[in-house]
Amino acid sequence: MLKTALTDLVGIAHPVVQGGMAWVATWELVVAVSEAGGLGIIGAGNAPVDFVRQQIRQVKAHTTKPYGLNIPLFSPFVEQVMALCIEERVPVVTTGAGNPTPYIERLKAAGIIVIPVVASTALAKRLERAGADAVIAEGEESGGHIGEVTTMVLVPQVVDAVTIPVIAAGGFADGRGLAAALALGAAGVQMGTRFICTDECIAHINYKQAIVKANERSTMVTGYSIGHPVRCLRNPMAHDFEALEKRGASEQEIIEFGTGRLRLAVVEGDCVRGSLMAGQAAGLVHDIVPAGEVVRRTVAEAEAILRRLPGLIVA
Ligand SMILES: Cc1cc2nc3c(=O)[nH]c(=O)nc-3n(C[C@H](O)[C@H](O)[C@H](O)COP(=O)(O)O)c2cc1C
Repeated sequence: MLKTALTDLVGIAHPVVQGGMAWVATWELVVAVSEAGGLGIIGAGNAPVDFVRQQIRQVKAHTTKPYGLNIPLFSPFVEQVMALCIEERVPVVTTGAGNPTPYIERLKAAGIIVIPVVASTALAKRLERAGADAVIAEGEESGGHIGEVTTMVLVPQVVDAVTIPVIAAGGFADGRGLAAALALGAAGVQMGTRFICTDECIAHINYKQAIVKANERSTMVTGYSIGHPVRCLRNPMAHDFEALEKRGASEQEIIEFGTGRLRLAVVEGDCVRGSLMAGQAAGLVHDIVPAGEVVRRTVAEAEAILRRLPGLIVA
C-alpha cells in the first residue's frame, strides 16, 4: 500500500486519480476506479445540470467509496453545477480551465474537498491562499486543454511553491510514472488518456483503438491562436484546424469549427472529423482493460520500483 498526503486527504486506498474528462468520464468509469481504491471523477464538461445530477446519483447508487466531480470553469452551467455539488454533497470537486477562487469558500463550507487543476506555480500559490485542499499540477503532455510547462519541470516547482498536497498530471500511464511523480514530491498522479482505454469507459471503441495504436509523436496541439490549446491525436480534423489557424481565420470561425468535435469522437467514433483528445502518454497505452486493473497495475508496479530503488545506493 502506498500511503500519501492524497490518500489521507481523500480517504482512498491508492494515490491514483482518474481525471474528470468531458463526455468521457461518466459514472461507469468513476465507479470502477473508486471501487478499485482510486479516485474516480465525473467529467461534467459543458453538460446541463440535470445530466450531471443523474451522473452523481448513479455513482452514489453504485459505490460508497469517495468520488469527485470536475467542472471546467468555462461551462455555461458552472454556477448551477457548483450548487448541485453542494446539494448532493459530492466529496471532492476538481476544477479545470481557470481560477476557481470565487467558489472555494462555498464548497469548503459544505465540507467538500476542493482540488483545482493548475499549470503554473503562481496560480497554485493563489489557490492555496484561497483555501484549496490540494492542487493538480498538469503539464503540457496532457490530453485535452493544456498549459505551457512540461510535467517534469512543473510538478517539483509547484511542490516547492505550496504546502498542500500536489497531484501530478500529464504523461502518466503506468507505475513507472507514479513512482517518478512521488520522487518529484507529488502525493499521487491523475491520469486521463490511460483511463480512456478501459472497459468501463463509454468512449467509442474506434477512439480507444486510435490511442492504443498511437506512439509518443502521435499528438498535436490546436487552438494556440485563440488562447485555448488542446492536445489531441493527429487526424484530418486536427490538421484542418491547424490550417484554419495558419490562414488567420477569425476566433469565431475557429470556435465554430471546433464545437462538437469531442462528442463526434467519443459518441460516434468518428476518427476523421472528431477530436481525439489524448496526451503524449498515448504511446504508453497498449491495451484496453478494466479500469480497476489500471489502478492495481499502476500501484503494484510503482511499489516494485520503489522497493528496488534503494538498492542503487552503495556505501
Ligand atoms: C478527452 C479528454 C477530456 C478531458 N476533459 C477535461 C475536463 O473536462 N476538465 C479537466 O479539468 N480536464 C480534462 N481533461 C484532462 C484530464 O482530466 C487529465 O488531467 C489529463 O488527461 C492528464 O493527462 P494524460 O492525458 O497525459 O493522462 C481531459 C482529458 C482528455 C484526454
